[in-house]
Amino acid sequence: MPISWTQDLSVNIVRIDTEHKQLVAMLGELEEAIGLGKGEEQLQEIVSKMSDYAKVHFQTEEKLMAKHSFPGLDDHVREHEDFAVKVMDLVFEPDSEHSSPESVLAFLKDWLVNHISGTDKLYGPFLNERGVF
Ligand SMILES: [Fe+2]
Ligand SMILES: [Fe+2]
Repeated sequence: MPISWTQDLSVNIVRIDTEHKQLVAMLGELEEAIGLGKGEEQLQEIVSKMSDYAKVHFQTEEKLMAKHSFPGLDDHVREHEDFAVKVMDLVFEPDSEHSSPESVLAFLKDWLVNHISGTDKLYGPFLNERGVF
């Protein structure tokens, strides 16, 4: 099934949802490249782009959580940091057993969906209560 952002991934904050949509769209690009037989060729470029954008996005979230003194900030930051390290391994260790485009895509998709559903959603109601939508 093609990857797409769906309402059940919403954290109820427009700017964050918009950024999540961008990240999902980049996964879609990788999926499309794989479908066209260009997965190997485009893997590094697409994942580097996603990784750069993820850094920007993590900053958005972390600043927002810090500004409103969200109690789960430290744990959340740790998940972002773990992700950054894993992505670097996946993309820049060509001998890694996980480095096929399909498995990189599966990892990124799982991580993103789980992180949004399990971790990002924790700050949604907290920030909503403080007037952030
Ligand atoms: Fe996050
Ligand atoms: Fe996020």
